[in-house]
Amino acid sequence: MSATSRHLLDIDDLGGREGIETVMRLTDSFVEVSQRQIPKVPALRGKTIAWLFYEDSTRTRLSFETAAKRLSADTMNFSVSSSSVKKGESLRDTAKTIEAMGIDAIVVRHSSAGAPHRIAQWVDASVVNAGDGWHQHPTQALLDCYTIREHLGGLEGRRIAIVGDIKHSRVARSDVTAFTAMGAEVVLVAPPTLLPPNLDGWPVTVSHDLDAVVPSVDVMYLLRMQRERMTEALVPSLREYTATYGLTNQRVELLKDDALVMHPGPMNRGVEISAEVADLPRSVILDQVRNGVSVRMAVLYLLLGSGAELPSPAGTLTNASETSDQEK
Ligand code: NCD
Repeated sequence: MSATSRHLLDIDDLGGREGIETVMRLTDSFVEVSQRQIPKVPALRGKTIAWLFYEDSTRTRLSFETAAKRLSADTMNFSVSSSSVKKGESLRDTAKTIEAMGIDAIVVRHSSAGAPHRIAQWVDASVVNAGDGWHQHPTQALLDCYTIREHLGGLEGRRIAIVGDIKHSRVARSDVTAFTAMGAEVVLVAPPTLLPPNLDGWPVTVSHDLDAVVPSVDVMYLLRMQRERMTEALVPSLREYTATYGLTNQRVELLKDDALVMHPGPMNRGVEISAEVADLPRSVILDQVRNGVSVRMAVLYLLLGSGAELPSPAGTLTNASETSDQEK
């Protein structure tokens, strides 16, 4: 999704650092909007966005929905569990049916890598990937970049450890691309069984020794053990995993003073992160969630807004409370 692209399917669609920075700057404007007494602007009035979630989600779905509402878009809810998908309707027919009702964007989450890309070939609407299998989760990577920038001033020259089940993680794949594009150095920390079998072309280093890595990093990014995507036991036991790769109360003491702890959620407290560590001031996990709304406002605005010009922080984004009653 360069400023002119219709879809956001992969983080690469942003065309590298410049595109990511465009989203970051636009997000600043929407953070400001989100802090207003009435956190709503008419930017996407008259646009309709449909959610097509074939996989469970708490924060991503609610975050997109909040973002759309703050931009005054209409939203169409689609629950796979109570839809004709259960009667055998194909992905293509479902997408075409939704589009026929007149929508401007579809936000898709699917357990198969590439599903949003297929939908983008079938429909004229903009498609946003909200997570496809192990493959990509671009808006998560954008909100992660934004949260690091908010706390550390930027990613350039920062060292970021991504720890845990990297093999099954679309978050890790999008984050590696986004973090390195922004000038950070990424180290993956995991047992060999939880790493992708082939890391050729990944701009990362790898370590199996978390204790050796902890003191050197600016960000400790933890991942959940994605057991629903595993077909075999990849760690001997969760207790052993926690002892070797968990951010325990002892290990967190080794972090630099200003180092951040991040997690995309949902957390498994007591496994990859101790219950106490999750609530430390340096754990910015709820900031990630908060920033997610503004980042998704920026993405939806770039795809569906006039697009001609990016709004200036205080200017183009009219406060909804300043519009006429008729417009509201
Ligand atoms: C992640 C996901 O679904 O990919 N969660 C999220 O979107 N915040 C990570 C996970 O499920 O572990």
